[in-house]
Order: sequence, then C-alpha cells, then structure tokens
Amino acid sequence: MRNLWDSLVLLPTLAKLSSRVPKNPHTAWERYWAGISHTGRGGQVLWDAGAASEQERYEEQIRGQLDPALPVIDVGCGNGTFTRWLAGMFPEAIGVDVSGSAVARADAESGDVPNARFLAVDATADGAAELLRAEAGGDANVFLRGVLHVLDAEERARLAANLHALAGRGGRVFLAETDFQGNRFQYVAHLGADRRGIPGPLRRAIEGLPMPGHFGRRECRRVFDPAAWELLAEGPAVIEAVPMKSGGATERIPGYFAALRALN
Ligand SMILES: C[S@@+](CC[C@H](N)C(=O)[O-])C[C@H]1O[C@@H](n2cnc3c(N)ncnc32)[C@H](O)[C@@H]1O
Repeated sequence: MRNLWDSLVLLPTLAKLSSRVPKNPHTAWERYWAGISHTGRGGQVLWDAGAASEQERYEEQIRGQLDPALPVIDVGCGNGTFTRWLAGMFPEAIGVDVSGSAVARADAESGDVPNARFLAVDATADGAAELLRAEAGGDANVFLRGVLHVLDAEERARLAANLHALAGRGGRVFLAETDFQGNRFQYVAHLGADRRGIPGPLRRAIEGLPMPGHFGRRECRRVFDPAAWELLAEGPAVIEAVPMKSGGATERIPGYFAALRALN
C-alpha cells in the first residue's frame, strides 16, 4: 500500500465488496464460475494467467518426484488450465472441482486434449478418495495449485486424509500455493488496487469468494502430519496471476511448493 490514505479509502470498499460473498463456500465457488465468460491471460479469472514460466518452474519437481506411469488428479482444477498441461506428462489427467460450472468450462476448453477429463467432486467429502481411486484405477498422483489456501483448517484436514488414501503407495502429491506475508491491504495493493480503483479480476474475486489465507512451510507440516507423510521436497514458488497493472506483465504472488509421499 503506497500510503495510509490508500488504506483508508479502500477499507469501506473492501468491506462492502466482501459483504456480498455467499456464506457457504461451495455456493460461492459455483456462483463465481457460473459468472465467468473469459478465461486465460486477458480474462476475468485472477489466477488463470496460464504462464508457461510458472509451469516450467514446477516441471522439474513433477518429473523428478511423480511416477509418470500413473494418472494424475488435478484437485480444484477450475477451468482446467493446469489439467491440460499435466495431460502432456501423464497417461491421463483428471480434473476435479467442487463447482459444476468450473468443470463444464474445463470440459469446453479441453476438447483438443483427449487424455484430460473432468468431474464435479468435493475433494474434502467423505467417499471422495474412493470415488477418485475408482476413476483413476488405483493409486494416483495428485496436483494442487491454489486450493489449500482457500480452505479452512477442517477442510484442509479432510482433504489431506482423502489425498492420503488416493495417493496410496505409488502416488505422490505436488502442491503449489500462495504464501503472501502481509495484511489484506498489502495483498490487494500488490495486485494493483489503490485509491483509484480495484482491477476487474481482483474485484470479482473479492466480491465473490471466501477470503483466502496463505499456505507455506508451517501450514504444510500442520496439514500433512509428518507421521503420515514424507516430505520429499519443498521451497519457494511464484504463482502468476493475470496482468492487472500497466505494462502487461503477469502479477507474481510469493508462494510455496511441496512434494509429498503418503506413508503406509
Ligand atoms: C484459486 S482456484 C485454483 C484453480 C486451479 N487449480 C488453477 O490454479 O487454475 C481454487 C479452485 O478450488 C476449487 N475448490 C474449492 N473448494 C473445493 C473443494 N472442496 N473440492 C474441490 N474443489 C474445490 C474452486 O472451485 C476453484 O476452482
């Protein structure tokens, strides 16, 4: 935030926009995705920059840690940008999302990727692991980008338990999450908000979605109990969001990545 004046002007705007967010997060995600008509770099979805640079930074870890013979499940796939990319590295990529509208959009955008498919599933629900194991034909790799940081502590715990069963002995989990250190004003300012206004993709997220948290080294140890998971790799990441400032470069959000194996 450039100065205190920016914070003071933004405070009521942020409060007003956030008051519109549906209380039930699943309803919020469904409404958000149902309202999206443009994705990709110039689109409405904040995190959907589709930057090859971000994918390249993950590729070494993914190729080094995940078994390329197993399918991969992209949990919280949104419109499937990363599912389509993963389909180039694994025999099958299955994108799952709690929002039916996200899955419909992912399907529509993936017609030219024969080994990618999509399912509407709440990945935190009882039975989700069994359902996904059946879809994958057994142990599966798991990819998550920008999902854990939008879940609360209970949802994170349920998701981790499901991922443990889904990965089994052979699968591995790769996650990349935003881990911005700072308050809400600093975060929105980092993404281009100031007293003159809030960029469209950011405004859409603030008024439609639950407030995101952050997920880094500490949260990873809390969610993926070291007694049940082996941490294979971790480090800093950069999550690239759609350009929202003059100059047209993607917005770079400090993040965290980890690769994990379920201990059986
Ligand atoms: C920040 S977006 C990231 C989308 C995608 N991974 C990407 O990076 O382009 C978070 C996604 O998680 C999905 N999501 C939230 N809660 C979920 C749940 N319980 N089960 C499955 N998906 C969920 C949302 O619908 C949304 O598409």
